[in-house]
Amino acid sequence: MHLHKLEISSISSQENIVENIICKPFRTIHYLGSKLRLLEFIKNVADEADPNRGAICDLFAGSGAVSQYLSKDRRVVSVDIQKYSQIICNALLNPCSDKNILKYGDYSRASTIKNSLEKSLKSIIDYEIEVIKNGAVGDLEPVCDFLENGSLYGAIVDFPAQGAEGLKVALSETINNLKYFESVTLLATRYFGGIYYSYKQAVNIDVILYEIEQAPMELRNTLMAALLSTASDLVNTVGKQFAQPIRPRNKSGEPKAKLIQQLNKDRELCVFDTFESWLHKYIGVNNSTHAHEVLCMDYNVALDLLPEDVSIVYADPPYTRDHYSRFYHGLETICRNDFPEISKTNIGGTIRLSRGLYRDNRHQSAFCIKSQAPDAFSNLFKKVAQKGKTLMLSYSPYEKDNNAHPRVMQLDDLLSLAKQHFKNTKSYSPGVFLHSKLNHTEKHLKASDNGELILVCSN
Ligand SMILES: C[S@@+](CC[C@H](N)C(=O)[O-])C[C@H]1O[C@@H](n2cnc3c(N)ncnc32)[C@H](O)[C@@H]1O
Repeated sequence: MHLHKLEISSISSQENIVENIICKPFRTIHYLGSKLRLLEFIKNVADEADPNRGAICDLFAGSGAVSQYLSKDRRVVSVDIQKYSQIICNALLNPCSDKNILKYGDYSRASTIKNSLEKSLKSIIDYEIEVIKNGAVGDLEPVCDFLENGSLYGAIVDFPAQGAEGLKVALSETINNLKYFESVTLLATRYFGGIYYSYKQAVNIDVILYEIEQAPMELRNTLMAALLSTASDLVNTVGKQFAQPIRPRNKSGEPKAKLIQQLNKDRELCVFDTFESWLHKYIGVNNSTHAHEVLCMDYNVALDLLPEDVSIVYADPPYTRDHYSRFYHGLETICRNDFPEISKTNIGGTIRLSRGLYRDNRHQSAFCIKSQAPDAFSNLFKKVAQKGKTLMLSYSPYEKDNNAHPRVMQLDDLLSLAKQHFKNTKSYSPGVFLHSKLNHTEKHLKASDNGELILVCSN
C-alpha cells in the first residue's frame, strides 16, 4: 500500500481548527532585516502614494512579510534573487487550500524510507548521541572533535585527518551505506548533518524532501515552504542563520562550558512536529482575489519586465556588506536540491572547506559591495523613473546590537542619486508619519539618522 493512501483519523478535527484561524502576517523564517514590525507603516505610505491601489512590486522580497501584508489590498509582484524567497512568497501569495497537505506530517513520519535511512545512518547517528551524552557528564573533547570534523560532506571530499578514530569509522560506514540510496538525495544529511542539525534531524529533513518529490505538483511549493520554515527554526546556530556553525571552543581552545546546552536546545527538537505546525500555518493563509506573481530574478531584469499595472516599486535592498546569501545558503541548498560545490578558504595556510559550508558561487549582491552599490542604486532610480512608477525605498537603521556592519551607502549619497532621476522626494518614518518637500526631507533624514525611513520618489 502506498503511504499517501494512509487513513489519517485526526485530519477532520484538524480541518475544523484550520478553518477558524484568522491569518495574521507571520515570521516565515528567522531573517535579518525583516520588515514584519513595520508592515502597517509601509502599507500606509503605499496607500498615500497611490490611493487607487494599483499593483505594487516588492523588489527585494526576502522573507515575504511585505508581500504578504500588501497582498490583501493590492496585486503584488514579488521579486528576489534567491529561490527560498520565491518559494515562501508563493506559499503566501498563492496559498494552497487543499487540506490534504496537512497529512504530510504523518506521511513523513511513516515514510517507507525513514527506517531504512535511519538504519543506514545508524553508526553516525549513534556516535553523535553517544558523544553528546558523555559531554553532558563532562567529556567535552569528543564533542568538539565531532563538531569540527564530523561533516559527511567534508568526509566525502576530504577524509578527516584530525578526527577521533570512532568518528572516522562512523563516517566511513555511513559513506559506504550511501550507495544504497541512489533514488534518495540525502542532501541535508550530506551537507548539514552533524554541523547545522543533528544527523537524525538531517535524515528526517531528507525524508520530508523525499515525500515532497512524491507529492502532487500543486502541493509541492507549500510543502517546501513549510520545510524551509522548519529548517530555519531548527538550525543549531547563534541567530538561526547559516553564516557560522557553533564554535565549540573558547578563544583559548577550551571546550565552552555551555556547549551541551547549546546543542541540545535545537538538536532535540522533532523535525516532523515542527514541519506539521508549519503546514498548519501555511494552510491558514487567506486566499486573495488578486492574481499575484512571484519572480526569482535579479532586480535589474525584473525592472525591465515590470508589468504595466504596477504603480509602486517598493525596494528594500541590503545595505551592508553582509550578503544575504551567506546567511541563508542552507535554505537555498535545501530548496534547490542541487548538490552545489562547497567553497574553499585558506585557513592557516591550508586550503580547506569553508567553515560555514557555503555554496560555491552563491549570489554576491552589488548592493553589498562598496564599489558597486552606487551604480546599483543609480540603476534602480533610473529604471523606476523611466518606467514612470513611484519608488518607495526603505532605508534600514544601523543595527549595532546585531554586530551588523555599517551601511554601504550613506543617506546623503542616496538622496543626491534620487534627485538626479526624480523631481519629488518625500521621506516617511514610523512614529513621525511626516512628509515634506526635498529640503525638509534632507533635514528629516539627518534627524532620523538611526531610524527606519521610507523615501518616496516620483516625477
Ligand atoms: C533586506 S532583505 C529584504 C527583506 C524583506 N523586505 C523582508 O521583510 O523580509 C534584501 C533582499 O534582497 C535580495 N537581493 C539582494 N540582491 C538582489 C538582487 N540583485 N536582485 C534581487 N534581489 C536581491 C536578498 O536576497 C534579500 O532577500
